[in-house]
Parts: sequence; C-alpha cells; structure tokens
Amino acid sequence: MKEQLQRELESLQPMVELDPASAKGNWLGSVTGNEYRRLEVDYGCGMGEYVIKSAKANPVTLFVGVDCVPYVIADAAQNAIEAGVSNVRFALIEEDDELAQIFDAEEVDMLHINFPTPHARAHDAEKRMTCCTKLIGYREILSSRSVIRMKTDSQPLFDYSLTQIKPAGYRLNWRANEVSRMLPMDPVSEYEAKTKAEGACAYGFEIAPLFDPDPDAVKIYEARSEASPAVEPSPGQSLYDFLPGDLKAMPYIPSDMRKSVENMIEAQERIARNRGGE
Ligand SMILES: C[S@@+](CC[C@H](N)C(=O)[O-])C[C@H]1O[C@@H](n2cnc3c(N)ncnc32)[C@H](O)[C@@H]1O
Repeated sequence: MKEQLQRELESLQPMVELDPASAKGNWLGSVTGNEYRRLEVDYGCGMGEYVIKSAKANPVTLFVGVDCVPYVIADAAQNAIEAGVSNVRFALIEEDDELAQIFDAEEVDMLHINFPTPHARAHDAEKRMTCCTKLIGYREILSSRSVIRMKTDSQPLFDYSLTQIKPAGYRLNWRANEVSRMLPMDPVSEYEAKTKAEGACAYGFEIAPLFDPDPDAVKIYEARSEASPAVEPSPGQSLYDFLPGDLKAMPYIPSDMRKSVENMIEAQERIARNRGGE
C-alpha cells in the first residue's frame, strides 16, 4: 500500500480499525461510551453508504464495514465521519482473508453481502462471496440466531447463490426479486442506487445457519482452509449457465456480463439470419 494512503488510514482512526484481528472477540467492547447490543457486518462495504444509513437508523447496533480496497475504506471512513455517526467502524482486509480472522465465534448477529462482485467465470467461482465454501466459512462467526442477507442486481448470481444455500447448511428465510418490496426501510447502497437507475432490480435473500452442511462440501471447505492438495477443487460453475434461454427478453444485464451477452445475442441473430437465408 502506498505510504500516503497508509498515513490517511492512520489519520482516520478510530473510525478505521487498523488492526482488525486485535479487535476479534471484542468489537462491541472496543467502542467505548456506548452500550451496543448487536454487531452487524457489511462485507464488501464499498463507500460505506449502506452502513452509514443503517447506523443512523439503529443506534444500539455497531456496524463494521469490511472491504479489501484501501482507498475505498479511507473514503468510507471519511464519509462516516462527515455523517457524524459513532456506531460504525471500518476494517481493511486482504481479498483472500477469512472473516473469521477478524470476528470471533458467534460474534456477528447479521452479515450483509450487498452487491458482491459476481465473478462470472467458472474459474473464479470460489471467489464469489456466496459460494458454498464461503458460506460454510461464515458459520464460524455466526450463532444459530444470526442471519446473512444478500442483495444483487445480477439474476445469474442470485440464482447461482440460491443453489449454494442448502449444501452449506442454511435455511432460506425468504427470497425476493425486489428486496425493497420486502424490506421497504432497508437502506439503498451506492451500488444499488446506480444499478436501479439503469433499470435493475435488487434480488435478495435472508438465510440462517440452522442445519449441518453437506459433508462433501465441508471436506472441500476444510481442504481450502488448510490449503491441502488432497481434495481437488471441484469444477466451478459459470454464471453464464444461469442466464435465461431468451437473452433478448432480459430487462437488464449486469455490467460484468453485458458485453458477452450482447455478443451472444448478436451471434444468435446471425445464426437465425443465416438459417432464414438457407
Ligand atoms: C460492486 S461493489 C459493492 C459495494 C457496496 N456493497 C454497495 O452495495 O454499494 C463490491 C465491493 O466488494 C469489495 N470486495 C470484492 N471482493 C472482496 C473481498 N474478497 N473482500 C472484501 N471486499 C471485497 C470491492 O472492493 C467493492 O467495494
């Protein structure tokens, strides 16, 4: 990280927790002067809009925004300071870090995953924040009363994520094709506002870790955690497998797939034209 950015993050303490691993197990206690009763984490928090609005609406909850991009954490912390909220903290982690490195067993009451990077390619399936192995990993920081809420503008990511819930041992509490109808008071994140303006819906669900995960999925999770070569990574699923049959009928194409889907539509039209000319 550039020295200037490091200095900026240091100047933003305590809004930025510079050593989040040292706060593990004591996030609620680390913020003095208040009696916080709940801890909610926004994983991939971006510029912090969701946590800042949530914090204003829920003063007895401590919100921790976590992201892997240093300048994003700096901007989010600056925004929180300007908004005058005291029940927010931000933590910078590495892209491959596990949340269990900075949160203790049963420490997190609610985990928000808002508009995660979809990682459409099969090769990147295990980077998705809602893939089965990651969902199994989150169980380490959740209690049986905790929940995970996910929102996305990507229908393929949403449909893929729904397939990951059961093998990871979670119960689906609800799913929605437009979360704002289900939760009208839920804050709109920066990315949600941007994609809504482009005609997207916010698909989403809430899940709870109530069942035993599938033993084969646990084996893969354990092999990943131990970096053991014993279990071969199973071939990941491409999000392109979750596109609808009629691509032209899609009301909105998520930005990471837009170019490829447009090319696929063009190819389909070319084939149809050639067939017509036969
Ligand atoms: C599309 S943005 C969404 C930001 C915000 N949640 C919102 O709804 O406006 C995805 C965010 O996830 C962060 N991110 C992606 N992979 C991550 C990882 N492995 N760990 C932490 N943050 C990650 C990115 O840096 C980015 O800020």
